[in-house]
Amino acid sequence: MSARYLPQSFFPRYALAMALGAAGGLSGAKDVPLPQPLKASHVPAITREALDKARPVIATHAMVVSAQHYATQAGVEILKQGGNAIDAAVAVGFAEAVVHPCCGNIGGGGFMTIHLASGENLFLNFREKAPAKATPGMFLDAHGEVVPNRSTDSYLGVGVPGTVMGLNTALAKYGKLTLKQVIAPAIKLASEGYVLQQGDVNILNDSVEDFAKHPNVAAIFLNHGKPFVAGERLVQKNLAHTLEQIANGGSDAFYKGAIARAVVAASNANGGILSLRDFADYTAQWEEPIRCEYHGHTIISAPPPSSGGTTLCEIAQIIAPYPFAQWGYGSVEAVHTFAEAERRAFADRNTYLGDPAFVRNPIEQLLSSAHAAKLRATILPDKATPSAQITGNLGATEGDHTTHYSVIDSHGNAVAVTYTINFLFGTRQIAGDTGFFLNDEMDDFTSKPGVANAAGLVQGKVNQVEPGKRPLSSMTPTIVLRDGKPFLLTGSPGDATIISTTLQSIINIIDFGMNVQQAVNAPRMHQQWYPDEVWIEDGMLTPDARRRLEAMGYKFTKVHAMGADEAILIDPKTGRREGANDRRRPAGLAAGY
Ligand code: DON
Repeated sequence: MSARYLPQSFFPRYALAMALGAAGGLSGAKDVPLPQPLKASHVPAITREALDKARPVIATHAMVVSAQHYATQAGVEILKQGGNAIDAAVAVGFAEAVVHPCCGNIGGGGFMTIHLASGENLFLNFREKAPAKATPGMFLDAHGEVVPNRSTDSYLGVGVPGTVMGLNTALAKYGKLTLKQVIAPAIKLASEGYVLQQGDVNILNDSVEDFAKHPNVAAIFLNHGKPFVAGERLVQKNLAHTLEQIANGGSDAFYKGAIARAVVAASNANGGILSLRDFADYTAQWEEPIRCEYHGHTIISAPPPSSGGTTLCEIAQIIAPYPFAQWGYGSVEAVHTFAEAERRAFADRNTYLGDPAFVRNPIEQLLSSAHAAKLRATILPDKATPSAQITGNLGATEGDHTTHYSVIDSHGNAVAVTYTINFLFGTRQIAGDTGFFLNDEMDDFTSKPGVANAAGLVQGKVNQVEPGKRPLSSMTPTIVLRDGKPFLLTGSPGDATIISTTLQSIINIIDFGMNVQQAVNAPRMHQQWYPDEVWIEDGMLTPDARRRLEAMGYKFTKVHAMGADEAILIDPKTGRREGANDRRRPAGLAAGY
């Protein structure tokens, strides 16, 4: 990375913050039971020395970064076979369904942001849809109260999966290789199995009790009834068979063939409402991506039914005039201004956004400079604004059970994908012998306006359940352009914190001068309107900064690990690809050639 991106003036500021933060800056921060995919011990806080030394993986031609090393290697293999970034992204998508089963999937849905070497920016929406029999009150009891776990642990929580249609749609339009070629690594990994690393086992271990509840799940994800340990091989013959059917029959095998029949049969047998028609009617859609400018860069990101791009751009527009580069990472001024901008943008997110096929999203107003100026004028220089004083309705708390990956090829085609089955391992249920976990994405809808969903999100009526509607998402696969060329590929898991993680990676690089590995490794913060508190990872604040912010009215809540940005930066001068696997996913890998 050139010196331009690592200004010397940056180092003393953040190094001091890290040193003091590591020395106990967050002692006394309250631990809350937020959904946590990884136990604290799995993700140690980063030290100042480690952050100082963090450097990306460098490649001349192409780069793939994902949360699982076999999936990354599948992508690199496809690029080396002559595939482009879209071919490799599809290969990684299918491979992660095998080797990162908590999050990578064919039973869920997601979004793909693409920048073609020709200069075109594209966005593919393969978010799950509500079944035709879904109703606004389906998660309520006879008294109108939300039934605990109905939207997360039962077949009623399953939205019609979009991943297979999404990956195949992207491949058919922009790929160079055949489906059989790009799905081959996934089939091999499933049928021959792969050796688990400690990072894989950590994630599996979080759900062993759930695996034991269903014999067809236990038969695959427990080793003769016991948790897998590192070094053992996980073989998934059923999933290999399902992937082979897709390889031979394309999307029809999934949406109109034996796979749809197996899922619908399991749904019928377990109180669900999925029908064969729901599968046959599923569509993935090309949409116009959200676009905004930030400090000389163009951000291309996710439009509704994701709230991600809109909210990220709204925050970016509010903070743009402030001197973040001068203030520095972890400074009182930067943390205060970022938190206040987030508080206001999340109030808008939770009030106004939903599936555009069903509700009007006032994107132009939310992203107008007049709106940003109006909100900026309400930020007090020396005081936190209580969330109750911000107009809008509702609020959120969230976790980390999705996955993001990035690919760039030697031509400059760039792909950023975030996809999910919502919770870790989705519903934790597999339909019959299909071998893949089903999503619980219906929980992203508003079960009842004003009542939190299982992830803590409290949303409004625009996001209520309706047949065929897609639930509002926070997934934010983003490509940042400089002079029209890809500069940064970024995104993350983590529900609403996805938006904060993604934007912090951007400003860590553009404003604070970090290299891409430092940018994704650096401790993060998040404010989402409600709850009226700032979530923070260890090491972000010095004790002094924290005291000063508390005196301004801030309440901090410690979270162990926020997000996982699998990012790529392209050096604008040399064109070299710099890959950064997030330290919070130890089984992940950046690799290129
Ligand atoms: O689409 C969304 O915003 C969520 N379903 C993503 C889920 C996630 O990041 C991890 N969740 N706990």
